[in-house]
Amino acid sequence: MNTFSEQEREKLPNHVAIIMDGNGRWARSRGKPRIFGHRNGVKNVRSIVNTAREVGVQYITLYAFSTENQTRPDKEKSGLMHLLEEFLKLELESMLKDGIRLRAIGDLSGLPEFARKIVEETIEKTKHNSDWNLTLALNYGSRQEVLNGINTYAQKIFESGESPKHLNWSSFSNYLETSELPDPDLIIRTSGEFRLSNFLLLQAAYAEIFVSPLHWPDFNRDAFIEALQNYIQRERRFGQTSDQLSSIAQSFMPNQKL
Ligand code: FPP
Repeated sequence: MNTFSEQEREKLPNHVAIIMDGNGRWARSRGKPRIFGHRNGVKNVRSIVNTAREVGVQYITLYAFSTENQTRPDKEKSGLMHLLEEFLKLELESMLKDGIRLRAIGDLSGLPEFARKIVEETIEKTKHNSDWNLTLALNYGSRQEVLNGINTYAQKIFESGESPKHLNWSSFSNYLETSELPDPDLIIRTSGEFRLSNFLLLQAAYAEIFVSPLHWPDFNRDAFIEALQNYIQRERRFGQTSDQLSSIAQSFMPNQKL
């Protein structure tokens, strides 16, 4: 039997983006090195991806490494990159079997060569998959993404002589790295922190936010289901009033691309 009723399934988020916080604290509380927390964090990625697929969430985006994480000690960064490599090597077969397409957002050129290579290879090998969507934010920062988009757009205007007047969210969003993704409906952050930390700042304009007190390695299937249950109780008004929403049967959803 499915966890959600037919009616509830219709209200589930299409795209859930997750800030997987608290690996370090989780490890420290067990007297272990930080990398132990990250390793258990990766195990949890598998479990959450499987749950999301099972209930019918179509897109998951994971904040795996931010531009700011580049300032962490070399040993921790290297450990994270090796975990990423191990994860992608291990998951490739099931990604191909289950029709999962891997995408990445962020500046991959800032990753060590071996990590960049396996990410790019996995993206390439899964690019024809269309059943499900996993996106990893790697060396990603929202401000840099927006600046890159503005620079590319300005360059295009400069070269083509086109008028910049026609720029709106729908056209500008094509200049963001998330251009192939719908905006996130739900952003989950673990370990009790109420921050977006430079993650999908513009795309999150109308996202619902759920903060879990659990550290990421403890954020299990039940906790994820609870976040989804909480989401489906919410009324997303996109700037409108409740009355307006019910009168037009929620047909108008600005900023939703898909
Ligand atoms: C935050 O915990 C977590 C990270 C900076 C990295 C998240 C990465 C993984 C779970 C592994 C790589 C992912 C994949 C998909 C293979 P923290 O270290 O900031 O924890 P703290 O705030 O308790 O110190």
